[in-house]
Amino acid sequence: MEVRIKMSAVETSEQYDYDGTYKLGEQPVHPVVLDALKGVDSQLHPGDIILDLGSGPGRLSHEAPTVNAYFIAIDGDPEAVRQYNESASSRGSSDRAHHGDIRQLEQTLSQTGVDRRRLRGAVFHRVLHVLDPQEQVDVLKQTRRALRPNSTIIVTSAADDDHKAQALRARGLYSPDAVNNCAPVMSGLPEETTFFGVHFADEKHLKNLAKSSHLRLRNQSVRRIRERSGYSDATNSYIFAEFQTPGRLFYAKEKLLDSTVRRVRRRP
Ligand SMILES: C[S@@+](CC[C@H](N)C(=O)[O-])C[C@H]1O[C@@H](n2cnc3c(N)ncnc32)[C@H](O)[C@@H]1O
Repeated sequence: MEVRIKMSAVETSEQYDYDGTYKLGEQPVHPVVLDALKGVDSQLHPGDIILDLGSGPGRLSHEAPTVNAYFIAIDGDPEAVRQYNESASSRGSSDRAHHGDIRQLEQTLSQTGVDRRRLRGAVFHRVLHVLDPQEQVDVLKQTRRALRPNSTIIVTSAADDDHKAQALRARGLYSPDAVNNCAPVMSGLPEETTFFGVHFADEKHLKNLAKSSHLRLRNQSVRRIRERSGYSDATNSYIFAEFQTPGRLFYAKEKLLDSTVRRVRRRP
């Protein structure tokens, strides 16, 4: 029997086994991601914030300690959040995780009481692909609105040459435009009947995401990287890219447009 797990904030805990997988220190973060983070961090001022969205138990906080900024993390799994905060506190780090759904980023951020004027970067490391393409655009738009102008968003999303995509293709189960259930081709899963959803991307998808979310894509940044899976010895393939939020003028125009639309809507 297949158990379909929807990726809501409370239910992600059933998909990721944080007691058995994703142990901090056992899975190095790819150097390309670490370098990108260093680049962002070096441009920030003490007290600035980088969002770690879908953080898990805090690999980035653990392995990419920031110098000038700190991480505010959001994850839908309470156990991941607990492990994140325990580890950060034990290292004397100011990084903090909050429980929430990244699809409701704006709401989650207001609940955390974070100083939004300090939000100057965001990372989606191995998480955006759990969302369907329209949700990805939606989350990126919310992230753009939350961040200051000219901030960087680092994305690592499952790529279409990943071993799971290839295994699904071989079985005639692969869909390029939707979230695929990879559970049947993932032997390392604790519960083989789980719905393990992944949307596989190519370079064109990342370009389209940038366009639809009104972000600039640093074209030179787009590349394929490989990182070990959290479940087995397999190596996963990801597309890495850096997005940039637009300048002040765009935000001013967007604000003006929003308030005009609201005024028109209020008219009897
Ligand atoms: C593959 S893990 C990656 C964790 C971490 N970024 C890393 O690379 O080590 C994906 C994480 O995203 C979280 N997640 C998935 N969907 C989410 C959602 N809608 N809201 C918040 N967190 C979510 C899961 O709970 C899980 O911890």
